[in-house]
Formats: sequence, C-alpha cells, structure tokens
Amino acid sequence: MRLYEALIFDLDGVLVDTAKYHFLAWQRLAISLGVSFNEEMNERLKGISRQESLELILEWGGIRLSESDFSDAMTKKNKWYLEYIESMNPEEVLPGVRSFLEEAKKAGYKIGLGSASKNAPFILDKVLLTSLFDTIIDGNRTKKSKPDPEVFLLGALDLAIPADKCVVFEDAQAGVQAAKAGGMMAIGVGDPDVLKEADRVIPGFADFTVEDLNSLKD
Ligand code: BG6
Ligand code: MG
Repeated sequence: MRLYEALIFDLDGVLVDTAKYHFLAWQRLAISLGVSFNEEMNERLKGISRQESLELILEWGGIRLSESDFSDAMTKKNKWYLEYIESMNPEEVLPGVRSFLEEAKKAGYKIGLGSASKNAPFILDKVLLTSLFDTIIDGNRTKKSKPDPEVFLLGALDLAIPADKCVVFEDAQAGVQAAKAGGMMAIGVGDPDVLKEADRVIPGFADFTVEDLNSLKD
C-alpha cells in the first residue's frame, strides 16, 4: 500500500527555472525605483504574490507609491517577466521533472499545481506540461498568499484527496510553510540550509523516483 495519493507541485523553481527570470525582472524594477536588490532579498520574494513582492521591495527601499504608480510598477515588472518567458520551450523543464511526472501519472497519483503565479497556465503550455496535471491552482484562483495553505488546500479539494495523503514539492520557504500549515508532507527542492522547515529536501528530480515517495516517512 502506498503512503500518498496526490502530488502537488509549485511551478517556479520546482518544475521550471523561472525563478531567475523573476529575479531579473524584479531587479530591473528595483533599479528603476532606485532601490538596491540582491539574491538574498529575492529569496524572500519566492512563492509570494506579485503585489506582496512589490510591497516588500518598496518597504526595503523606504519608498511609497501612489495607487496608480504601484499598479504601473506591477505592470512593468510583469511585462519584463513576460518578455523573458516568451521564448521558453520544453527544454527549460528542470532535469528529471517530465519523466517523474509521467511515471507518477502512470502509477496513478493525482497531480496538481499549486502556484502563486498568474502566469502559470501560460508557462505550463509553453513547456508542454499542461496535460499532465489533473488540476491547476494558480494566482488567479487564490485570495491568500503562501505561507497561507489556501493554494494547496484548494488543490487537495479539486483532487478529492485528504491533506495527509498529499505531498507538496516546493523551492520557497513560504511554500514549505504553506504545505505544513495545510497538514501535508513538504518536500523542499533546493538548498537544505534555506528550506529548514521541510520534511525532507531533495536537490531536484534527477535522482528522485516515484518509488522514493514511499520512503518519505523513514
Ligand atoms: C511565484 C514566484 O511562483 O509566483 C514569485 O515564486 C512570483 O516569485 C509569484 O512573484 C507571482 O508570479 P506572477 O507570475 O503572477 O507575477
Ligand atoms: Mg517556487
């Protein structure tokens, strides 16, 4: 008997390396606002919404914007981000991800996406992953940002699988916290020093197999 029934994946930094494009677009915006921006700051923006990211950048820079300038800044960031991701193709799916998803689907796991990004459906289409997902929860469907568990709980609900039978894969601290808050198994994808609250951390999917899902509790 297997321990889990559903796998819910974050998108940016887990399935595709879009984290670098978010970084470039935010950096460009921060520079245009005269705010310094580095990798460490970027780490804190991972997993959170576009609006909250801008609020944080403005807070760090001690800047206040009018409502319309705030909205213009968000539009600008997204326009630059879209320019970066426009030319994405299936080769940008991170190593091992496609075969892991295919194997998991074959093995009968339900597969969901749990992303804060409003661009998630566009990216999944670009890299030809859409058909592997049984549900897609993105920033257009959620009201609360990670670390709130809403995005993953909606995913579990759509998949009709209880939270304790779901495994979440996340590259962001806020995402790991969201999975834990939702009562799910949280697998960090990336650096164990950053993803300290995860139940387990893997470097990626190159050496992680569907069989390994059954030994997550060991
Ligand atoms: C998350 C990213 O997946 O989506 C964040 O980790 C990003 O960096 C957020 O800000 C929102 O994305 P978008 O595409 O709606 O601006
Ligand atoms: Mg992410």
